[in-house]
Amino acid sequence: MQFWRCGRILKLMGRNIPGEGEKVHYREKLESTAALIKNSAHTYILTGAGISTESGLPDFRSPGTGVWEKTDPMKTSTQQVLYENPRLFYEAGFARFAGMIDAEPNDGHYALAEMERLGLVRGIITQNIDGLHIKAGSKKVWEVHGHLRSCHCLGCSQPYHFQALVEQLQNGQNPPLCMDCGGMLRPDVVLFGDPMAESFFDAQSVLQRGCDLMMVVGSSLMVYPVASLPRLARKLAIVNLQPTSYDSRAEVVIREKCGKVLQDLLEILKQQ
Ligand code: APR
Repeated sequence: MQFWRCGRILKLMGRNIPGEGEKVHYREKLESTAALIKNSAHTYILTGAGISTESGLPDFRSPGTGVWEKTDPMKTSTQQVLYENPRLFYEAGFARFAGMIDAEPNDGHYALAEMERLGLVRGIITQNIDGLHIKAGSKKVWEVHGHLRSCHCLGCSQPYHFQALVEQLQNGQNPPLCMDCGGMLRPDVVLFGDPMAESFFDAQSVLQRGCDLMMVVGSSLMVYPVASLPRLARKLAIVNLQPTSYDSRAEVVIREKCGKVLQDLLEILKQQ
């Protein structure tokens, strides 16, 4: 007999094994989430920085470790700071950008790529600029806050590989400049104060055409307009270590690490 079934019988008999209740509860939540996915023809995933913490990249708002716990993004990381004080913008943000370039996908990214391959997930809307979903093999990815594969000149719009910006900063050239016109280079990411990327509006219209289920993975759902997207889903499932303002609307909320949950969920889905 499977271990968790044994736990459920003991639970029904009113004798919880210490800690066993949580395992049964977790397993039941996984099974509910798997059933939601199996019964959904249009499942979309919305990810945030929490899915990349297991790749060594800090998120923004986890108590004690989030990036914005240490610096105020309104003072270092907005479009206005980039234009008015680019040296500060790059001094404050470069290490974080550089760290993302070398990061590798984790179990959570790979599990989502496999779910897409199995036809269980239609696509991923990600707030992350680290590119790890694409590195993990996911094909339909809306990077609604941009990415770190390229940058462009603010003067003549000349596009560059992001590496060109990295090399200039590593060689002490801050701010990084265009080789053609001498204008300043900026990353192709959406900063506070920027208009949303085209991919956001594309993702929004796809969801408006029909989203039976959205699974939110590793996001505090605090930054709009992305945080308005879960409203377009008929049903919600949330995997997140901290509470979110959407928890009360979700069919299932799992307070476990993304990597573990997504791999465990994939195992159940593959058995069915
Ligand atoms: N497993 C599950 N949840 C996790 C894990 C993990 N391993 N690690 C962190 N989390 C949760 C945290 O509890 C937190 O609630 O992920 C959430 C991440 O939330 P944020 O740090 O706010 O990140 P995100 O929601 O992506 O922020 C959105 O804010 O600053 C902007 O542009 C930035 O795209 C970012 C946007």
